[in-house]
Amino acid sequence: MRFDIITVLPGLLESPFAHSILQRAQKKGVCEIVVHNLRDYANNKHKSVDDYPYGGGSGMVMQIEPFAACIEQLQEARKYDEVIFMTPDGTTLNQTIANNLSTKGNLMVLCGHYKGIDQRIRDVFVTRELSIGDYVLSGGELPAAVLVDAVVRLVPGVLSDETSALSDSFQGGLLDAPVYTRPADWRGNKVPDVLLSGNEGAIHAWRDEQALARTKERRPDLLDE
Ligand code: ADE
Repeated sequence: MRFDIITVLPGLLESPFAHSILQRAQKKGVCEIVVHNLRDYANNKHKSVDDYPYGGGSGMVMQIEPFAACIEQLQEARKYDEVIFMTPDGTTLNQTIANNLSTKGNLMVLCGHYKGIDQRIRDVFVTRELSIGDYVLSGGELPAAVLVDAVVRLVPGVLSDETSALSDSFQGGLLDAPVYTRPADWRGNKVPDVLLSGNEGAIHAWRDEQALARTKERRPDLLDE
């Protein structure tokens, strides 16, 4: 799959895509992540991409022309399944949405800044608006990195142990059971006996029970869905 991300701060996205699973996914050729600098599409010599809001008010608004130039150039090269705008007033990202997006081919992601982007960009080009939670960040870059991570790790071939994405918290509609590793006793804090028992059936039953108990306690809303 391929992500094209449009931003005024491409440097902010260098590190998140250059490490760990996202780096490996790109090296394996399972996914391609291309970051585009919106300023390269500015139509003035100062490379500015924003202007004062019509009707007054504080803050600057990102203009439609640079976005249109970049989006249309990309759309000439390939067809996009979705043009996603990261915004706190979008639909809250969840595992179901991430699963759905992981089956797509080409996704474009727009990052906003300042007071926002001209509404016509959203009306004309955007097919989906996503938030990563009910708080406001300075721009859409960190949310875009969160989205790419959540989606790419689900693409077959990205995780070495393919079952591990399927057993993540939320995948079965439940949170994960607690996990432990050596030592079995750390200053009297012991690993539950069942995990040392070698009894696979009992371990499986314990994990199911723990996952349900944890979900009931921490996220009862997940059980209503
Ligand atoms: N841009 C600023 N805040 C955001 C959020 N919470 N989710 C997505 N995009 C954003």
